[in-house]
Amino acid sequence: MARKPPPGRARAGSKPEPQAPRTLASRADRHDLYERSVQDPEGDVRTLARLFKRLRERPALHLREDFCGTATLSAHWAASASRRTAVGVDLDAETLAWGRARHLAALDSRVTLLQRDVLEGGGRKVDIACALNFSYCVFKTREQLRRYFEVARSGLASDGIFVLDCFGGWGAFRPERERRKVDDFHYEWERAHFDPLTNEILCYIHFAFADGSRIDRAFVYDWRWWSVQELRELMLEAGFSYVHALWERTDDDGDGTGAYYEPRRVENQELWWTYVVAER
Ligand SMILES: C[S@@+](CC[C@H](N)C(=O)[O-])C[C@H]1O[C@@H](n2cnc3c(N)ncnc32)[C@H](O)[C@@H]1O
Repeated sequence: MARKPPPGRARAGSKPEPQAPRTLASRADRHDLYERSVQDPEGDVRTLARLFKRLRERPALHLREDFCGTATLSAHWAASASRRTAVGVDLDAETLAWGRARHLAALDSRVTLLQRDVLEGGGRKVDIACALNFSYCVFKTREQLRRYFEVARSGLASDGIFVLDCFGGWGAFRPERERRKVDDFHYEWERAHFDPLTNEILCYIHFAFADGSRIDRAFVYDWRWWSVQELRELMLEAGFSYVHALWERTDDDGDGTGAYYEPRRVENQELWWTYVVAER
């Protein structure tokens, strides 16, 4: 019996088989969707530069983006001023290759991508090191996170700073799916499970399209949630000289203004996210 050709491939001399129409999900690229729905590299460049200038009264030139993924922040940092350089560090070869092709063609000499564990360190000393979008939450023990902070600190110039973002609020731990329209698709952030005994939290990113097709669990986050106070304590244990826990100013309607200050105490909110900045 003749073997059936693989789907979509016609036997020589035969008519091509009709192809099933391709869905929007099958034509989408999950890295592109992630960048468009999650990241704001222009805003991050402004915030990081402003934080450094405020503390050090000089402009920051050199950035290290740990857990850089597609390195869009590194690329935007280098593109924002001709003397700026960036080092992006990530474990994942496929993600780095995607980022290199998308973002780095014109900037190669000022952006270095290192495929390695952030615990290995390396690269030039930088003014600012950052781990954004809560990526450091992959470390689930105090020992691992303290070790990461020690490595991050050792890669800083003498007046360098290390910037993390963190999140919380009483709504941050209940199982929920938040859905938001982005351009021509929907982004979904699912908090699937939180364990109050271990602080482990499992989250997913899904994407949904107008034709009903979906990319479920495009990204999976198996994290430990760290409180601001735990981060502060571990940073000091790792040798940082001072830790600033920032909070966003709000306007009269309670909306965030993008300006950060350093209060001693704050009221909890349903959902919040903010920055923790450590001085070397
Ligand atoms: C949430 S993405 C962060 C992407 C981007 N930096 C952002 O701000 O949205 C997390 C990235 O961390 C990388 N990663 C996870 N563990 C790592 C480790 N120990 N060392 C280096 N990269 C790691 C993954 O490959 C993934 O690309």
